[in-house]
Formats: sequence, C-alpha cells, structure tokens
Amino acid sequence: MNLFQVIEARRSVRKYLPEQVPEEVIRKALSAALLAPNSSNLQPWEIYWVRDTRKKTALITAAFDQSAAATAAELLVFVARTDTWKRNRALILEELERRGNIPQQQLDYYTKFVPLFYSHGWIDLTGWLKRIVFSLVGLFRPVPRGPFTTKEVKGVLSKTVALACQNFMLAITAQGYSSLPMEGFDECRVKKVLNLGSESSVVMMIAVGRENPEGIYGPRLRLDPKFFLFEV
Ligand SMILES: Cc1cc2nc3c(=O)[nH]c(=O)nc-3n(C[C@H](O)[C@H](O)[C@H](O)COP(=O)(O)O)c2cc1C
Repeated sequence: MNLFQVIEARRSVRKYLPEQVPEEVIRKALSAALLAPNSSNLQPWEIYWVRDTRKKTALITAAFDQSAAATAAELLVFVARTDTWKRNRALILEELERRGNIPQQQLDYYTKFVPLFYSHGWIDLTGWLKRIVFSLVGLFRPVPRGPFTTKEVKGVLSKTVALACQNFMLAITAQGYSSLPMEGFDECRVKKVLNLGSESSVVMMIAVGRENPEGIYGPRLRLDPKFFLFEV
C-alpha cells in the first residue's frame, strides 16, 4: 500500500479476532512512532507496551471495558512527560557536540529558549510572570504566546505525542493489522497501573489486533470538506 492507501485503509476497529499480532509488527510501528515530528525535537513521549496480563486486565477496566481494549491482542499507552526535556536536551546537546560544529543559533535555542518555555516554576508562578511580560512586549511586536503554564506545556506535548500515535497507527495498518485510539479511560487508574506521576499525562491508549469485521461500526463518516477547508 502506498501512503494514501494506508490513510484510506485505517479505520477505528472496536472488536478484534482472537489472534496474536507478531512482535515484529508492533516493534516496527513503535519505530515509526518515534520518527514523528516533535516540538523542539525534545521527544517528550513515553510509550508503554503493556504485556503483563495483570496490568492489561487493569487497563481494560480503566478503559471502561471498551470492547476494543477487551478484545485487542495488544494494548499500548502513549504518554507525554513534562519533565524529560532536561534529560533529552542534555542528550541532544551531547550528540550535537559529538557531531561537531553546533551552530550558535541551535545552542542558544536549547540553552535559552527551551528552558524559558518548558520550565514554569512553583504553581506556575514564573509562567504567569512570563505571560505578563510577553503580553506587554506583544503590544509592540510578535512574541510567542506560550506555553507558559503546566497546562499549556501539556497541550504542546499532546500535539507531539498525538503525531507519534498517528505514525504508530498508520504503521500498524500498513502491516495488515488494525487499531483504535482511545481517550475513553480513567487517567488516574491508567497512571496507577503504569506507576506514573503528575509529570506524565496519558495522551491515548491504542488497541491493536486483527480486525473482526463486526468491529467496524459502519461506513466511514466525514462531513463536507466545505466546513473545514479554506483557501484564503
Ligand atoms: C484522541 C482520540 C480518542 C478516541 N477515543 C475513542 C474511544 O475512547 N473509544 C472509541 O470507540 N473510539 C475512540 N476514538 C475513535 C474515533 O471515534 C474515530 O477515530 C472516529 O469516529 C472516526 O472514525 P475512523 O477512525 O474509523 O475514521 C478516538 C479517536 C481519537 C483521535
């Protein structure tokens, strides 16, 4: 399948046949997920491939026993981290140094710009201060309008992690299997199963398996593009 055929073929499948998915299929899709474009290349994702039966059962319960979760051969949880940017930034700088000749602009970006937007201080206090300063400067020239608060940082990170989810699902489709992205779950319980703290937010849970034809609830439904596409 070419890319357009894969995009057409991907559907949300909510029931799966009792068939295993070869490990290689998941590993390939995971590699594709990690190639997603991501904000400042800080790679704030974590992907949990939940293989432990007890954990999987707890996840199904946390996902309100949705049939997709209950019948899926594999369950994966895509997480955004607000705290790993420091480690990842250090690793990126190390790697750039190893490659030699880091452009000053790139160095400044990681040492000045990134901390400015990714650190937000106790109860977002510095974040709110930054918002005030940027709003004032913004009266006179274009300025970044965030992220300033933890919530805004989480929003930025969710964009990135969602792109990894899409890469993952398309890679699953390209290999002849099906998936379902889920946000219908109790995040507190999912985090408990995975032992995650407040620095993590669960972006999506993804079910993977061999499509049961009953798992597609109808023909694809999309509204008229006139509502969404604009040439200005
Ligand atoms: C972020 C996100 C969360 C979703 N959560 C659920 C879910 O919890 N349960 C479910 O049955 N479908 C879920 N879906 C699937 C959508 O309902 C589905 O993508 C949409 O109806 C379009 O159908 P299609 O994917 O077959 O084109 C979710 C999709 C996205 C992108």
